Amino acid sequence: MKHSFRGLIALVSSLIALALLGGCDTNTRMSTFDTKGPIAEAQLDLFMVTVWVSLFIFVLVGAVYIVAMFKFRERKDDDRPLPVQGHGNPLIEIGLIGASILLLVIVAVPTLRAIWYTHDFPVTEESKLGAWYQGEGLSAAEEDQPLTIRVEGYQWWWGFAYPQLGITSANELIIPAGKAIRLELRSKDVIHSFWLPRIAGKVDLIPGRSNGMWIQAGDSIEDWQAKTGATGSDEELRAAYAQYLQDEIHNYYYGQCAEYCGDSHARMLFRASVVSDDDFTSWVSEIKTGHQAPDDMAWEDWYAANDESPEKLTGDINEGLQLFMSRGKCATCHAVNGNPRAVGVAGPNLTKLASRQSVAAGWLNHRAEDGSVDVEQQYANFFKWIKEPNTVKPGNRMWKANGGGIGELDELLTDDEIHKISLYLQTLK
Ligand code: CUA
Repeated sequence: MKHSFRGLIALVSSLIALALLGGCDTNTRMSTFDTKGPIAEAQLDLFMVTVWVSLFIFVLVGAVYIVAMFKFRERKDDDRPLPVQGHGNPLIEIGLIGASILLLVIVAVPTLRAIWYTHDFPVTEESKLGAWYQGEGLSAAEEDQPLTIRVEGYQWWWGFAYPQLGITSANELIIPAGKAIRLELRSKDVIHSFWLPRIAGKVDLIPGRSNGMWIQAGDSIEDWQAKTGATGSDEELRAAYAQYLQDEIHNYYYGQCAEYCGDSHARMLFRASVVSDDDFTSWVSEIKTGHQAPDDMAWEDWYAANDESPEKLTGDINEGLQLFMSRGKCATCHAVNGNPRAVGVAGPNLTKLASRQSVAAGWLNHRAEDGSVDVEQQYANFFKWIKEPNTVKPGNRMWKANGGGIGELDELLTDDEIHKISLYLQTLK
């Protein structure tokens, strides 16, 4: 009876252990074991040092314990005398103190090195904007700086501003591969934490102050060369390096707020697209230009028509835009570049929203397996997000009929109105 009970406990605990270890997949999209940049790599190396030191202590202490337990346990009819009962052993005590200090030093040295490494932003020639950014409008001083991105935390979404380039985006960070980038982290409300597991993390965003960190997707050309031992002419090396960035680094990465920040903390995700220099430059220019009015009208003409006789602007897209600007109150909080009257700043900037692969700060996903936007899913997500924002992201500040948001709609949007707004939003590519 007793034995079968113990057996049962052993069985249940090994099943639980197995289930817990099942969470230890090192090959997930947010795995810190699959590093794609020097910061994440430095952090992984540091983690492994502490793991090995801890494992060493665990095995040593565990082995001594098990040997003592079996060797000195009381047996049946045991007539061995008690061992000598001693008190204090200077050799063992000093030895253990010395060993502990040694182990702590083994952990402390790489820890300090990693802290300095992740803190000191490296300004390399390759990372300077002038060296790779093809767009116009930079001053000479700006060309001499690396890219800076201001990350702003809001309940519960992310603003990404690129002050040198004069643009703002949200929730999906676009960064060039292989360049060291300075992040300036600020919060507009409570404490959040920026964590992009495969590339870098994590640093808190604290209200009233600006924290800094740097990130880099992929190795610099020197580090890549040192690791791979690649040789060749300057030109060959550059081509091979570009290939490495293309094959291993250009990708879509998943991030997450890593500090509890209220109701929807768990739904405060973000994404990072790591792209080539050219793609980055064209993305910036598209964001700057923003969007035309429907039917390729100039905004002036569209607003003139709208102010004069709005009923003449027909079709779902025109009506969706009208709803976006007026009854839905979307433009009170959201900006759409190009549109001179959509300049809200309380919510995410929606320029090129339809090119993003998720909505609601990464919570509703419409990225297809091949990396393109699943248009049907996107429509469904837009619809759902506008119709029931509180189900998607409890506590958020979208306008709602029953209060709780930043403002209150007199009357809820109908399904037909939400349908039209969603179709209009899908034109923001
Ligand atoms: Cu923001 Cu948790």
